[in-house]
Amino acid sequence: MPILVTGGAGYIGSHTCVELLNAGYEIIVVDNFSNSKPEALKRVGELTGKRFISYRADLLDREELEFIFTRHRIEAVIHFAGFKAVGESVRMPLEYYMNNVAGTIALCQAMAKFGIKKLVFSSSATVYGVPEKVPISEDFPLSAMNPYGRSKLMIEDILRDLAVSDTEWSIGILRYFNPIGAHKSGRIGEDPNGVPNNLMPYITQVAAGKLNRLSVFGDDYDTPDGTGVRDYIHVVDLAKGHLKALEKIFSSTGVEAYNLGTGRGYSVLEMIAAFIEASGMELPYTIVGRRPGDVGACFADPTKAGNELGWTADKGIAEMCEDAWRWQANNPNGYEEESIRMEQVRS
Ligand code: UFG
Repeated sequence: MPILVTGGAGYIGSHTCVELLNAGYEIIVVDNFSNSKPEALKRVGELTGKRFISYRADLLDREELEFIFTRHRIEAVIHFAGFKAVGESVRMPLEYYMNNVAGTIALCQAMAKFGIKKLVFSSSATVYGVPEKVPISEDFPLSAMNPYGRSKLMIEDILRDLAVSDTEWSIGILRYFNPIGAHKSGRIGEDPNGVPNNLMPYITQVAAGKLNRLSVFGDDYDTPDGTGVRDYIHVVDLAKGHLKALEKIFSSTGVEAYNLGTGRGYSVLEMIAAFIEASGMELPYTIVGRRPGDVGACFADPTKAGNELGWTADKGIAEMCEDAWRWQANNPNGYEEESIRMEQVRS
């Protein structure tokens, strides 16, 4: 029986589809492509040599969703679909709550209607707000600082309520730290819309000459070199965490949250040095003021995922940088590359 993957064409979704297919799972993808490209799914097929069905559909389209559940006997759902930009969420809170929260409710309603009660949900370390200390474990207090974070926290609460109301549900909540890197092939990777907000895609675009220089947001944090410290995790390690979470929800009921991080923090300056080392490229940067809403240090205690899922991240920072750079160098315009080349040929 197939696994339904919502948002399967996105950055983490596409890498997880590759791991699922390689592990022998059958998958059905549903994506509205609002922030992703069908090309990513085409490449997932090429990389794995496997065929799978995908639907262009929105989770808020109840008829379409029920059509998918009627057509396929789904075993479990991995739910990636959602908006993810903090700044945008401040400007467009209603869109974020509608898409993320209402979208998840609609998905769970359809699942319940068809008796499918196994779910892996993409949450974020953002639900820890400003952590009292690091490393962060799953029992830390939860809070949120912006509509994006609140949407994740609300969904977590909804899923916990759901599991209480009906003990047949089995739900794994995965709190991602900072996913970076790309598949080794350089064929799938992160393809942000417009100017990236996150550090690694910004770095790779500066190195590629698409952006002039990196701004380092603050060097006066209470961290070893004063710049922000994060738990960067290779997206393929993260993808593999979803397979471990699936195995877990197949063999248990209830709801559990797991940190998916490496347990090791790197500062912005350490990331710059690691990237230069891995790519051999230059990376001009300037230290500027803090970015509003940023925390100084955020990294995981991943012990629970190790003990209960049998998962640990094993790729280091050099490999993350190399893979991120290979993706950028091979796909200067992300998934648009081929269509742009075609236009250049024609004109
Ligand atoms: N940074 C820079 N310059 C940039 C971009 C980022 O110096 O141009 C710094 C930030 O200040 C921070 C670090 O690089 O210290 C990482 O920043 P990212 O934007 O890559 O990641 P964040 O940890 O801020 O945000 C990520 C996710 C959010 C999520 C948040 C908390 O992108 O979705 O983690 O979990 F909400």
